Amino acid sequence: MIFFLYQGFWCDTFFIEGVMRAQQSFRSQPSDIVICSAPKTGPTWLKSLTFAIVTRSTFDDSTNPLLSNLSHDCVPFLEVDLAQSSSNRDPNNPLLATHVPYSSLPRSIIDSSCKIVYICRDPKDSFVSNYLFFVRILASKDMKPFALEEAFELYCQGVSSYGPYWDHVLGFWKASLDRPDKILFLKYEEMMEDTAVYVKKLADFIGYPFSFEEIEKGSVEKIVNMCSFENLSKLEVNKSGKHREETPVVIENKIYFRKGKVGDWENYLTPKMAARLDSITLQKLNGSGLTL
Ligand code: A3P
Repeated sequence: MIFFLYQGFWCDTFFIEGVMRAQQSFRSQPSDIVICSAPKTGPTWLKSLTFAIVTRSTFDDSTNPLLSNLSHDCVPFLEVDLAQSSSNRDPNNPLLATHVPYSSLPRSIIDSSCKIVYICRDPKDSFVSNYLFFVRILASKDMKPFALEEAFELYCQGVSSYGPYWDHVLGFWKASLDRPDKILFLKYEEMMEDTAVYVKKLADFIGYPFSFEEIEKGSVEKIVNMCSFENLSKLEVNKSGKHREETPVVIENKIYFRKGKVGDWENYLTPKMAARLDSITLQKLNGSGLTL
């Protein structure tokens, strides 16, 4: 994997051209809902929830495209799918996703009245998730994995896909404080604790609130259950399907579903490594009002 340092963040060779193209030509619509995240912080889940919320009156529990498609295939990715042109967008789908940091987003996303939803996660879990994601990708291509210690050292120095991770999170955090009506800032751990509360919050924020009748008949819980790790990970498409099959970055869908647990870092990081990451996080977030 080769990274470029571009506008202060590390960008993979596969994405950099798309990021630049999107910055030049992407035009956001006021109705757009942009799902932003650093990699391995929970966008697979957030895309599913947001897609399910937005499409709940079009599909029922048995026909939702999430049951036969990976959520990444239901939400176009800015730096790949929309980099050349927005014309291939489904006019009925206001969602798009990106890993681009806030300060490098296409100007029209920042200036237009579209909504941004951001998800972040404890960097210890995000690092482990990221490392194991690449190990599994390399294994699927019969390539040798690199050492966890090596990846950890780079991560601590800020070298990770779209990183430094802390800069990514802080960019959206500060923007969400300045513009709370535009940016909803979410944490994976809090969403895991009470998903229904956040599904309602998300729906209100993006302008698709649940009616009293919907709440009464359990629509929120249906979405929570449909998008749960347990449900999505056992769907045939997510066990045997492939994402971006025609490209050099083809990924088996099952790689997106590992454990979906909070605190799994304990099984991979030594106490010393965890303390080092915690101390970097404390230092980087100092004075921001944000804790991770
Ligand atoms: P783990 O690797 O810790 O299991 P991504 O950023 O690609 O969405 O992945 C981040 C984490 O989300 C991964 O964590 C993945 O397993 C988990 N995940 C995927 N689908 C999920 C879901 N429906 N609910 C909760 N977590 C999910």
